[in-house]
Amino acid sequence: MPVIDRELLSEAQISERLDGLAREIDAAYAHGDLLAVGILKGSVFFLTDVLKRLTIPVAVDFLQVRSYAGTGSTGNIQLVHDLSMDIEGKDVLLFEDVVDTGLTLRRILELLASRHPRSLKIAALLKKDLRENADIPIDFLGFTIGPEFVVGYGLDLDERFRNLPYVAVWDPTR
Ligand code: IMP
Ligand code: MG
Repeated sequence: MPVIDRELLSEAQISERLDGLAREIDAAYAHGDLLAVGILKGSVFFLTDVLKRLTIPVAVDFLQVRSYAGTGSTGNIQLVHDLSMDIEGKDVLLFEDVVDTGLTLRRILELLASRHPRSLKIAALLKKDLRENADIPIDFLGFTIGPEFVVGYGLDLDERFRNLPYVAVWDPTR
């Protein structure tokens, strides 16, 4: 059984940041036709907690890709579950749990852009401070973190720890 090493972001810190993000999103889409798209499964906790804080109308949809096995990116991204809605003409806001190499978002942006939404932006809870993902335009960002592997608040290690209410670093050496 792996050990959770240390709490990186507390429940209170996350909650306070989400208040700010929700205000930014409310303002940005005050005159839009917002469709929040969650990238399953990690973004679900983040997405629902942000959406509950919005005052503007918002529709929700999900897609699922598979890109990771254990703690290493496979670089091989498969569409497992597509959107149920047509996004043409919509203001699509993608919700992602963590931007690591950026490969997942690059592929999803490419796919969704080809369907002609009116706008396509990204909300990410976490972004790892890495050169590989520096060019990914994140419009609404929760926190920048280091390169370590994290779990909790939607983030998993082989499907475990998603339900932790905080974000913790997982230390593979313990
Ligand atoms: P990317 O394609 O390398 O940017 O990886 C993005 C996806 O990998 C995320 O949606 C997560 O599912 C997973 N991932 C990347 N880093 C972590 C981490 O530290 N903890 C848990 N999942 C991660
Ligand atoms: Mg995962």
